[in-house]
Amino acid sequence: MQCWDSPFGPVYVGEDALSELDAWLAQHRASYTSVGILTDSHVHEACLPRMLAELESLGTSFVLEIDPGEESKSVDILQQLWLALLENGADRKTLLISLGGGVVTDLGGFLASTYMRGIDHIALPTSLLGMVDASLGGKTGIDVGGYKNLAGSFAVSQGIYVWPPALDSLPEEHWRAGWAECLKHAYLAGGDLWAEACAIKDWLQVAALLPTLMAVKMHHVAEDPFEQGAKRKALNLGHTMGHALEAALGPSCLHGDAVAAGLWMESFLSESMGISSPSDAQKLRNAVDQWWPETLAPPPDVTKRLVGDKKNQSGQIILALPTSPGNPVALVPVPLSAIKNAFEAYAAHSTSSF
Ligand SMILES: NC(=O)c1ccc[n+]([C@@H]2O[C@H](COP(=O)([O-])OP(=O)(O)OC[C@H]3O[C@@H](n4cnc5c(N)ncnc54)[C@H](O)[C@@H]3O)[C@@H](O)[C@H]2O)c1
Repeated sequence: MQCWDSPFGPVYVGEDALSELDAWLAQHRASYTSVGILTDSHVHEACLPRMLAELESLGTSFVLEIDPGEESKSVDILQQLWLALLENGADRKTLLISLGGGVVTDLGGFLASTYMRGIDHIALPTSLLGMVDASLGGKTGIDVGGYKNLAGSFAVSQGIYVWPPALDSLPEEHWRAGWAECLKHAYLAGGDLWAEACAIKDWLQVAALLPTLMAVKMHHVAEDPFEQGAKRKALNLGHTMGHALEAALGPSCLHGDAVAAGLWMESFLSESMGISSPSDAQKLRNAVDQWWPETLAPPPDVTKRLVGDKKNQSGQIILALPTSPGNPVALVPVPLSAIKNAFEAYAAHSTSSF
């Protein structure tokens, strides 16, 4: 098993991760008045029973279940969950466990950090995206009025336990969505990891790379926990344009699929602004096209969604653009006209060579 100490709680990954959590519970369970488990209905069925079977020291717990998908990251659901915690007798000494993909860990982290001014929280990510990205780094949040993660917090968890066998039941489309964040991490790391990522042929190979891909995020978070400088902003690669597309397309669009499109468009912009070399930019776009042969269709008003992005400063749209694999991203203001061109180029490009 591999573990890291992070500013947002210890992170464990490996087949022993649940035994590690069980040992922690054996030591700490008595200090909690109750334990609530937040999950969605898919994960409830696919993962909860077999993961609970590994946690002998958990004792009694209550389950809060939400509908799967991004629509649950909302003010309405958050309010229902605050009240559901209360109805289940949760007090300030209740422990909340978020068991699920990025939607559950984002929402659960925010729920825990706000209920009665904050209760303890543990994350058990079950999707590839949740394991490699969403549950790491302390960012929690919900979407408001069509804007991604408009309200949220940086929150510390008592632990983040990544148990790869949970991935056995992950549907194919969510492996691919998670792969977008993995590609981003591999690009940021460069070197062998980027070469390996470009050569990946199936998801079993991805599972083997999990700790290495997580380490990339842990490294960026450790150096810049609260995104004060450029280091953590690098993790936003593909996200500014991806979030705009995701918000404009609505709940049918998976976060990871939108990030993949964002990586494609931001590499296009980077090349056209002379930041990335044509060959580096093309290699990144090829890595996206290989797994996303069909493009998403950006609606005409997609660029409106860039206005609420948290990375903007003084009304300027700031993008984290790729430079070359393994090198820092370029944080640059980009004119709206160039962004519109990138959306058009993405929508029109052909991936027929794959
Ligand atoms: N906080 C952060 O730093 C951060 C970073 C990246 C993404 N995110 C957020 O993460 C969210 C996307 O996460 P996601 O892609 O995991 O989506 P998700 O939570 O909706 O999970 C994807 C789907 O897979 C199902 N699922 C998850 N694990 C499963 C398993 N083991 N077996 C069967 N089904 C399983 C879920 O029920 C859901 O239907 C977005 O809201 C995004 O904004 C947050």
